[in-house]
Amino acid sequence: MQMIHHQEQHLKQSISTFFFVMLQLFLNIVIKVVVVGTICGAAFVLTRFLYDSYRLRKFRGPISLPVIGSCWDPGFAELYKHLQILVKRHGKIFQMFSFTRPILVITDPQLVRRILSDHKTFYKGEDYTKYFGFTFGKGLITANGEDHRKGRALLGKYFIRSSVAPFADAVNRIVKHAILEKLDSQLLSIQDRENGFDFNMEEFFAVLALRCFSKFACDYDTSIDPKYEKAICHIVSKGAYGVGLLMMFQLPLWNCIPAVKSVVNANEIIEDFYAKILAHRQQALADGHKFDDMLYAMLSDPTLSDEDRMGHFRTAICAGHDTTAYFMSYCVYLLAKNPEMQQQLYDYLLDKLGDKATITADDTAQLNFLQRVMMESLRLYPIVPNLTRECSVDTHIKDSNFNLTIPKHTTLMFPIFAMNRDPDTWEDPTVFKPSRFENKASSDFTSAKDGYFPFGYGCRICIGNTLAQMEASIILVHLIRAYKFSAVPGFHPKIRGGVSLTTTNGICVHLTPR
Ligand code: HEM
Repeated sequence: MQMIHHQEQHLKQSISTFFFVMLQLFLNIVIKVVVVGTICGAAFVLTRFLYDSYRLRKFRGPISLPVIGSCWDPGFAELYKHLQILVKRHGKIFQMFSFTRPILVITDPQLVRRILSDHKTFYKGEDYTKYFGFTFGKGLITANGEDHRKGRALLGKYFIRSSVAPFADAVNRIVKHAILEKLDSQLLSIQDRENGFDFNMEEFFAVLALRCFSKFACDYDTSIDPKYEKAICHIVSKGAYGVGLLMMFQLPLWNCIPAVKSVVNANEIIEDFYAKILAHRQQALADGHKFDDMLYAMLSDPTLSDEDRMGHFRTAICAGHDTTAYFMSYCVYLLAKNPEMQQQLYDYLLDKLGDKATITADDTAQLNFLQRVMMESLRLYPIVPNLTRECSVDTHIKDSNFNLTIPKHTTLMFPIFAMNRDPDTWEDPTVFKPSRFENKASSDFTSAKDGYFPFGYGCRICIGNTLAQMEASIILVHLIRAYKFSAVPGFHPKIRGGVSLTTTNGICVHLTPR
């Protein structure tokens, strides 16, 4: 009996010894794999870094370290501003690393123009296809090659001047209603009328631009559900910042990252919005209405999948309202800070239009002074502060000014914000001076010779630029005639430069009825 017990004990001991040895062996293997993996990973990152540094060795730039690149400098937290300092230090073409990503920054106007006009050699890289694509899906902004050509052919006709001009009537109606609903309603007493009130114009313009764009593209009136439209505005703005962060730091698209979460939230709300619009359209079609707008074009193209349609819709809604809203907000902010200029503009508008109730597209094209104010506002606050491209082949550029080779697969960045404040191009670059655009022949807001590209350049130029300009002109005319803007003491917009120049504290001005 005792012997059996002994044997059992022995067996148990052997088994536990076996497991212990196996565990040790397993842990040994795991540790070795982790150590070897780390060494290999580090060697890969280092080799990659050395290789990229070698490829860009001919270009100057800030000191870069493996893994963190040039981001050891705290200035990188506000990249759009920091790039101005880097341009001063390193000249018009320089290299830098955003963590592990090598970037060639180009600010020379002629070179930027040349690159932007060659969309075959310089295509939209991962910034667009991966990061923008994460929120916009497969739309015009993210597409390259044939997909882009097809998308532009499908939607382009709705954005040309002759299609946009008839929409002026609707913009007039929408803005007049919004002024009554959101601004005039704040004036409850005579005292209110005399004292005026502080107001976040960014929130106001976001709702207004969303109403205009939904009406224009889908004949949908978002004002029927004010809470919902406010939520869309908020989430699109937050999502734009989120995408900017992900893109700049090339973060992985993991759900646990707050910036990814904000984009996912934005996507869900926009998908829900699309479903509402589709239901509305189906009902209208059933009621016998006829349409010829962007939504109609998308729905009636049999070659598009549902995913393609969703991509076009998301792209248009996101690109089509927040940009225009911030554009108008900065305009009003600058006018508030420059009261004399504002008074001149007010007098000019009264002189040209009197109290004309409906402003037409032709009217807006004649308002040169207003156009110059808008151009100057986009110079100081370009809503899209940086553009990027990727180079498909080793490209040699040689002319009287340049002789350089851009290596294949290099990411190129054009810091529009820094270019628009470059003292070599602009006299008194930080001063709000609309008269600097007096001699510009074109009214299309692009002065390529000077490197002024607020809407991009070449065949990837903003599809909505005519719409944005007409819409903003009409809205500003009504607003400037109705209210006087003054600066709110101590208020400065806290700009967070993501994909667009959004702010964390809105854009506030003091409004007094005229
Ligand atoms: C003030 C308002 C706006 C500004 C400052 C602006 C700016 C820009 C810029 C700079 C680009 C070029 C991007 C690049 O080359 O990488 C662009 C492209 C684009 N924008 Fe706008 N935009 C505005 C309004 C709009 C509106 C109202 C729409 C309406 C749908 C829109 C839709 C698009 C689309 C679809 C593209 C991509 C075009 C293509 O690649 O073919 N944008 N925008």
